[in-house]
Amino acid sequence: MTVRIGVIGVGMIGQDHIRRLSKVLAGGRVVAVADTDAARAREVAGGLGSARAHATGQEVIADPDVDAVLVCSWGPSHEDYVVAAIRAGKPVFCEKPLATTEAACLNIIEAEVAAGRRLVQVGFMRRYDDSYRAMKRTIDSGEIGAPLMMSSGHRNPSVPGHYTSDMAIVDTAVHDIDIARWLFDDEIAETLVIKPRQNSRGGELHDPLMMILRMRGGALVNVETSVNIDYGYDIRGEIVGETGTVTMAESNTVIVKSRGSFGGRVPEDWRERFMRAYDVELQEWLDACAAGEVRGPSSWDGYAATVATDAGLVALKSGGWATVTLRDKPTIYG
Ligand SMILES: NC(=O)c1ccc[n+]([C@@H]2O[C@H](COP(=O)([O-])OP(=O)(O)OC[C@H]3O[C@@H](n4cnc5c(N)ncnc54)[C@H](O)[C@@H]3O)[C@@H](O)[C@H]2O)c1
Repeated sequence: MTVRIGVIGVGMIGQDHIRRLSKVLAGGRVVAVADTDAARAREVAGGLGSARAHATGQEVIADPDVDAVLVCSWGPSHEDYVVAAIRAGKPVFCEKPLATTEAACLNIIEAEVAAGRRLVQVGFMRRYDDSYRAMKRTIDSGEIGAPLMMSSGHRNPSVPGHYTSDMAIVDTAVHDIDIARWLFDDEIAETLVIKPRQNSRGGELHDPLMMILRMRGGALVNVETSVNIDYGYDIRGEIVGETGTVTMAESNTVIVKSRGSFGGRVPEDWRERFMRAYDVELQEWLDACAAGEVRGPSSWDGYAATVATDAGLVALKSGGWATVTLRDKPTIYG
């Protein structure tokens, strides 16, 4: 079965997902697109041959030829599209964030609960990365005992001029927050944000930041965001368990030894580092759609991440611990 897909928002990630759906993955075909930039939507649709450019995202969702929806527009617009897709009974893949406010996330959860089944997958692609999956298998096997602590490093060579200290939490650390919840299979209870000496390359930006997450079970996770580190895009991870540790290996496929030293490549950016994870993520979404199922990060995961980043913003301002308070988890989320 070919899943016929409508894409809302055809900017950078939308076009990248269209490329992988059209050229890399099996089982999906993009049949409709929309963007507030109508010329861009027409251009992208034109490049696909038979795809339609609709005037609005709502028209994409209502299109009877669309089986499933991909939301890749700006964060504040996600809520309306995801809720509409749920009400139309269509599976929807929503790029992170699920929504930009807690209230908007709860609206989505309420719509899904009213539908009586999961329809939403959120774009937390790290869960599809080979290294993180191997770390998860190691923890779940019991090989290192109960996990007690994690160090998570999120390093970018540089960021655009409009990047703010809040974005270090909302746009950058959010991936580490989701992966910590997933690896520990636990919710975050509270968070603290510490500001080390500033990197002079970042101007006024609080960079780096150290965000501490205390999980409900007591484990501690420290998330380092360093977004002006120059040398490359470097994702680090180590978990200390009761009887062992699991550490993310370097991501290159070869190590070169020459003239008394050894080395390898550091990825240039997140596209290079997570290219395969994005492919696996969307392939598994397509496979689930074809099977009439929805798997992967849920609206609950999107909601929990947004509540945690909101608490992170409070902690950044106050300098103290901020509590992460979640409502009761509806049964459809397991
Ligand atoms: N998972 C990841 O690692 C990852 C990486 C990059 C971006 N993202 C997320 O993907 C989303 C898009 O990011 P991007 O970098 O592609 O941004 P972008 O600015 O390149 O593209 C967004 C597109 O959405 C369109 N748009 C905005 N509001 C719209 C609306 N209401 N209806 C229809 N179209 C609308 C814009 O015109 C633009 O073409 C964001 O939520 C971002 O956080 C996730």
